[in-house]
Amino acid sequence: MSGKKGLAVWAVVCLCAVLTGCSGVKQEEQPKSIKIGVTVYDQYDTFVSQLIEKFNVYAGEKETETKTAINIELYNAANSQTTQNGQVQTMLEDGCNVICVNLVDRTEPTSIIDMAEKRGVPVIFFNRELVEEDLERWDQLYYVGAKAFESGIMEGEIAAEVFRSSPGADKNGDGVFQYIVLEGEAGHQDAIVRTEYSVSTIIDSGVEVEKLSYAIANWNRAQAQTKMSQMLGEFGAAIELVIANNDDMALGAVDALKAAGVRQDQWPVIVGIDGTDVGLEAVKNGELAGTVYNDKEGQALAMLNLAYELSVGGSLSKLALEDGKYIRLPYAKIGPGDVAQYE
Ligand code: GAL
Repeated sequence: MSGKKGLAVWAVVCLCAVLTGCSGVKQEEQPKSIKIGVTVYDQYDTFVSQLIEKFNVYAGEKETETKTAINIELYNAANSQTTQNGQVQTMLEDGCNVICVNLVDRTEPTSIIDMAEKRGVPVIFFNRELVEEDLERWDQLYYVGAKAFESGIMEGEIAAEVFRSSPGADKNGDGVFQYIVLEGEAGHQDAIVRTEYSVSTIIDSGVEVEKLSYAIANWNRAQAQTKMSQMLGEFGAAIELVIANNDDMALGAVDALKAAGVRQDQWPVIVGIDGTDVGLEAVKNGELAGTVYNDKEGQALAMLNLAYELSVGGSLSKLALEDGKYIRLPYAKIGPGDVAQYE
């Protein structure tokens, strides 16, 4: 398949195709198999890859439950919107019943929407939210994700709580929380909104803050380590708080502190978002003060259920879509005491 269009297929997952044993009227109405196309902006993104892992697990369970074979064609766009557009075209030519798209550039969904509409194939966008006007362009477009502002508020609440409850957080004792921000991609809804709401929540809760610096690290641990090392070089112990837009970048800050030989009791307070496996581990061992759970299970299950119903022509009523188009899962705060529930 990859040779066909020179596009790299990340994986074609053919979940167990056992179709026997189903009797009765329903069998004739139910398709024997469906094909779901999925393309992700970057298969090496920790959160997105964990979400896809869950999606595959839930597809396997759905297959057993419904006796419908669910074939998943999975592509990595490797950060190129042009590549992703080509992948969608291939998935449409391959007869996918529905396409799930984790856009590379959330402002560029037009080609994908046009191609899908021409063939009448519904599209579920996920994790990287397009603007409402684009989602309104056709009635077979959907979005599965979360409310970015909620995660920013929770991250700010965690930071403010630590400032109030741990005397060591205000290292210079001036009553002000000096912070830096490690931001995701420029222009990504989660980066913009999380940064804004985390800081405004700390201020609204009555904690005075001072911004020392910020850096864009594209959700990436290695990039965050580099940026944090530079900021450590410039501000050193003056940094009291690291607000990271996700766990991988928070862990990049941890890596930089370790590489600089700073003792853990001298570290700034570090907060993240996602609750990835590595993020949870870091909360448990005290490297991160806390994180905010980005419900990859909930999002993966909602996407699978929606993709399934769209593929078999089922009812969407039990999926509780907002405005007929959106499914947004809630976030949750995670401190050291909560980690066990999420592992
Ligand atoms: C965010 C998530 C980040 C990154 C990003 C990719 O929701 O918190 O870790 O995965 O999506 O779009």
